[in-house]
Amino acid sequence: MALPTTNPTTTNAWRKLKEHFNEVKNLHMKDLFAQDEKRADKFTLIWDDFYVDFSKNRITEETFKYLLELADDVKLKEAIQSQFSGEKINQTEGRAVLHSALRAPESAVVTVDGENVIPEVYNVKQKIETFTNEVVNGKRKGYTGKPFTHVVNIGIGGSDLGPAMVVDALQYYKNHLTTYFVSNVDGDHVNEVIKKLHPETTLFVVVSKTFTTQETLSNANTIKDWFLQSASQEDIAKHFVAVSTNLDAVQSFGIDPNNIFPMWDWVGGRFSLWSAVGLSISLAVGYDNYASLLLGANKMDEHFKNKDFQHNIPVVLGLISIWYNNFFNAESEAIIPYSQYLNQFATYLQQGIMESNGKSVDRNGNPIDYQTGTLIWGEPGTNSQHAFFQLIHQGTKLIPADFIGFTKSLHGNQDHQDKLISNFLAQTEALLNGKTESQVIAEGTKEAIIPFKIFEGNKPTNTIFIKKLTPESLGKLIAMYEHKIFVQGVIWNIFSYDQFGVELGKQLATKILKEFNGEAINTHDSSTTNLLNYYKSMS
Ligand code: F6P
Repeated sequence: MALPTTNPTTTNAWRKLKEHFNEVKNLHMKDLFAQDEKRADKFTLIWDDFYVDFSKNRITEETFKYLLELADDVKLKEAIQSQFSGEKINQTEGRAVLHSALRAPESAVVTVDGENVIPEVYNVKQKIETFTNEVVNGKRKGYTGKPFTHVVNIGIGGSDLGPAMVVDALQYYKNHLTTYFVSNVDGDHVNEVIKKLHPETTLFVVVSKTFTTQETLSNANTIKDWFLQSASQEDIAKHFVAVSTNLDAVQSFGIDPNNIFPMWDWVGGRFSLWSAVGLSISLAVGYDNYASLLLGANKMDEHFKNKDFQHNIPVVLGLISIWYNNFFNAESEAIIPYSQYLNQFATYLQQGIMESNGKSVDRNGNPIDYQTGTLIWGEPGTNSQHAFFQLIHQGTKLIPADFIGFTKSLHGNQDHQDKLISNFLAQTEALLNGKTESQVIAEGTKEAIIPFKIFEGNKPTNTIFIKKLTPESLGKLIAMYEHKIFVQGVIWNIFSYDQFGVELGKQLATKILKEFNGEAINTHDSSTTNLLNYYKSMS
């Protein structure tokens, strides 16, 4: 069954939300808390090691009720079933969307075109496990007989961001292997990494679902050429492995067929870290930790699939986000992890969220006349407090924010942890309550300065408080956002799993690249022509 194609703005729930918005848009959350001492309890979800408090949002019980009705009106339940059962809900590419199958238990049955994909998924996992163990314990060696000390992941987009973010986030669990990521076609990127490598002891993992991506193939070729300055053609088999669906292209690159880790077209690039694309994760933290990451994601899948919407974390977060995006006209959302380990988390989510839901044509092929997508940005606290929080507190824009924190630190330095978490809690409290004129006066502020020190407050936040950063809890957190993406895509009536918007720039870059050799060019708009000719004159 295809996904439903309801225009959300035509539903009863949307109409109710529109009317309701006019009634509640000026309410202050401070008053909502004052009126109901149970507000925090009513709007908190506790599940496993997750404590999700969404009470600091500009919602009432009525808002929540209408949002839940919206989920029903657009047939979200049916859509979730369609996704998990392997239906081809990525209709524009004719593919199923089954990153959930990659973390399903071995006993699960998930069929695509009549065939259960789980046995093949577990075959590849077995290959990842064996390979990881051999590299980590030094059984697998480089061309001069030395064990590997370095791993370089060569990929971009989904073939880079997920593994890079997770390896960074799980550095506490890392083994002795040093891991680098090369992504940008900027040659200075690959050359800076090469500087740190020794060919005898470095393993290269070339990750590209299509194996046609310019950046990845350029970087892989540059690295191969550098490697061949010290080693021979036959040595490539020992040092290069690939993750791809395009087995022929991998072999023509020169990689041994035994060194190919396959993936499938039903795994979207930005949701692929659960497939062999996560090989670098497994190598960096060991297979058991990698398996725990997948287990965590599977637990979130079960929660999302089975929990009623009122208590369903990804559904609730998705609905609240719609409320701000489509009714308050908020354009962006900030992701603020209070953990330095999650330094790359917002960058990772930018692809997941913006490549998926940055669409302006609905599932009927019609242009959309309501807002979709969300601008995603963020940095860890407390650093971000000293960078952009001023604008969130006192700027003119409404920026809903997710605050993500962990009750325990990994190194156990309680003094730092208490300071960190006091900031984590203080910021959402400050964003909620603000500071009134009378409070500013009571502080003895000079009269002329008073207006500048007033905080309006009423700035929405979700607090996602997790017991401890472990591979499993990280898996849950990532899957939580994946499902939030899905919820919003279903409601906005868009196709979340294609990315045609990135193609045009790629096509033009190929054309311009060819034009660098030869006569002056005048076939573009005058701006591009001037810039192109200027570059040619400089090189
Ligand atoms: O930028 C577009 C995109 O197709 C992403 O969706 C994908 O993650 C990335 O390029 C890399 O693609 P590949 O894994 O095929 O090299």
